[in-house]
Amino acid sequence: MSEILQHREAGVLTLTFNRLDKKNAITTAMYTRLAEELEAATADDSVRVAVIQGAVEIFTAGNDLADFLNNPPISKPGAEVPPVVRFLNAIRDFPKPIVAAVAGPAVGIGTTLLLHCDLVYAGDNAAFSLPFVNLGLCPEAGASLLLPQIVGYPKAAEKLMLGEAFYAEEALEMGLINRIVPPHEVNAYAQAQAAKLAAKPAASLRVTKQLMNMAQTQLAPVMTEELKHFGALLQGPAAKEAISAVMEKRKPDFSKC
Ligand code: COA
Repeated sequence: MSEILQHREAGVLTLTFNRLDKKNAITTAMYTRLAEELEAATADDSVRVAVIQGAVEIFTAGNDLADFLNNPPISKPGAEVPPVVRFLNAIRDFPKPIVAAVAGPAVGIGTTLLLHCDLVYAGDNAAFSLPFVNLGLCPEAGASLLLPQIVGYPKAAEKLMLGEAFYAEEALEMGLINRIVPPHEVNAYAQAQAAKLAAKPAASLRVTKQLMNMAQTQLAPVMTEELKHFGALLQGPAAKEAISAVMEKRKPDFSKC
């Protein structure tokens, strides 16, 4: 079965992470699929809203760690855009509302992709984390710009520099999510909100989203800059040590990094 499930009904495109044996960790193939779906939906008038969701026990464990080493997201001149970058560009530029439903852990890009969603609902078991520094990396998906804008600089610095998990209550207080619901109800709640949006005038929603994002002129350049540093750091000693440590379930040793 596909590791990204797609369902279209009544104007709502639903994309579901479906790789539970690996905690919905996202591979390059999954990023490509997500990007293809969002790109196709952009041009398809029958899609009025997109929903991104996971399972009741986990949203996603973030980027597949083996892929970080084997298929690093490094942009080379003349080469194809890395799948994660294609996905991030697609979610950033998606002109219609995106609703996210998060239950359980949302690690790394599992949290940063939410910064590109319009409405985010979370189960009370949701655990957000931005462990980029702990992995010897730096923020991606425009998080270095969007997170301080949304939650304020001190909170953003705490979450991005310490990389500790934070939970639904704090995420709600910070303004990162819209509402907390029981974990078993979060996907259905997101669907109900998406159905409300799908019944509204599509052009008004599109223009509203466009206007709300019009001042965001630095987002694309910041994402390009993040990617440059992310790619370089990924090839450095700290990332190699940190990623091996997670995969070997041991503590990393940064004494030489
Ligand atoms: N990439 C690849 N595989 C992953 C993964 C990831 N990001 N996250 C989990 N997995 C795999 C584990 O290796 C394990 O595989 P195995 O059964 O073949 O050994 C399986 O998923 C189950 O993971 P496990 O850690 O046992 O589950 P858990 O419920 O105890 O913990 C998490 C869940 C998400 C908290 C934990 O897996 C985790 O922290 N993962 C790493 C997250 C991460 O650092 N992501 C990168 C962000 S930039």
